Amino acid sequence: MSTLVANIGLLVTNEEGRSERENAALVIDDGRIAWVGDAASAPDADERIDADGRCVIPGFVDSHSHIVFAGDRSDEFEARMIGQKYAAGGIRRTVGLTRQATDAELAANTARLVAEMRAQGTTTVEIKSGYGLTTVDEARSLAVAKAFTTETTYLGAHVVPAEFADDPAGYVGLVTGEMLDACARHAKWIDVFCDDGAFDVDQARAILEAGMAVGLGARMHGAQLGPSGAVCLAVELGAASVDHCTFLTDADVDALAGSDTVATLLPGVEFSTRQPYPDARRLIDAGVTVALACDCNPGSSFTSSMPFCIAVAVRDMRFSPSEALWAATAGGAAALRRTDIGGLAVGQRADLVILDAPSYVHLAYRPGVPLVKRVLTAS
Ligand code: NIG
Ligand code: FE
Repeated sequence: MSTLVANIGLLVTNEEGRSERENAALVIDDGRIAWVGDAASAPDADERIDADGRCVIPGFVDSHSHIVFAGDRSDEFEARMIGQKYAAGGIRRTVGLTRQATDAELAANTARLVAEMRAQGTTTVEIKSGYGLTTVDEARSLAVAKAFTTETTYLGAHVVPAEFADDPAGYVGLVTGEMLDACARHAKWIDVFCDDGAFDVDQARAILEAGMAVGLGARMHGAQLGPSGAVCLAVELGAASVDHCTFLTDADVDALAGSDTVATLLPGVEFSTRQPYPDARRLIDAGVTVALACDCNPGSSFTSSMPFCIAVAVRDMRFSPSEALWAATAGGAAALRRTDIGGLAVGQRADLVILDAPSYVHLAYRPGVPLVKRVLTAS
């Protein structure tokens, strides 16, 4: 079954050298892009969708989320808006509520958030565990995540749970031992929160190396709350991505620039913690590959909207609109080491969004307006 998407006013393919085409069309065959070209020379297909002059972009790749959880922390957000500082300790509240929730409750909450994401144009999402922090609760969180995505991440090292407060080394032993054994079969990635109030650089190294030894790819939460050795460690270990990057040193930027590690920026976090936004310009100008993601979670960033993140990135982080769109699509794909998503070149997955707008610039120009007209996915 083939589908022609005809009459596209502006098509973004993210192809090297020719990433935008005016008056274009594309053909989808068997879930893949089979043809891209001028609207006037479009071939026939079994089915025809008329884009009516609208803009078509690749589906968003949200490469960082924590959407397997129970409960609400809007009281913390309210307190921050009148001066309270964000701290990693709030994670333990969600851990308590998540442990009490049934599998069905966790799956229903995750399904609701995945549906929100899809309605806003996200066609691939990475989902982390990290609100269970026991062997059983981490494994069941990942089993829930696996029902929604292949991009699952084991984050047993989110924080040290209360019952290990006096024995952090014992908790690292659990995360790298029995818990890893139970979680590895459900996960593609391993992540660690390396920051004040979570894990230090030596603990983070031990945790990522243990995951890599059983075949998981490394990711990192780093430099969210202050500068640390997290970013350089992520680069040294060949992590696919280091996420947050809010407080970077010159050495961090140099290390990222000479590496394959993507810097993933999470505008929703700075928006809802009132921290300063990271300087995307500094990273992009240094040649670092930058991704944008939502970091959807109940504590630091409870948004599921990639269009919102793009708008903030353009307004407050010095991205151009086209750089922000690239970071939210191809950048996210790079952060997941995927070449089949994040673009609409021939051979890539037919994951795409028809915007109710003539240009992707409207994603930032019309903040808060639902501009996703239609989402098509390969499966
Ligand atoms: O990416 N920084 C660590 N983890 C999440 C926050 C989780 C929470 O506050 O519940 C983040 O911001
Ligand atoms: Fe996160």
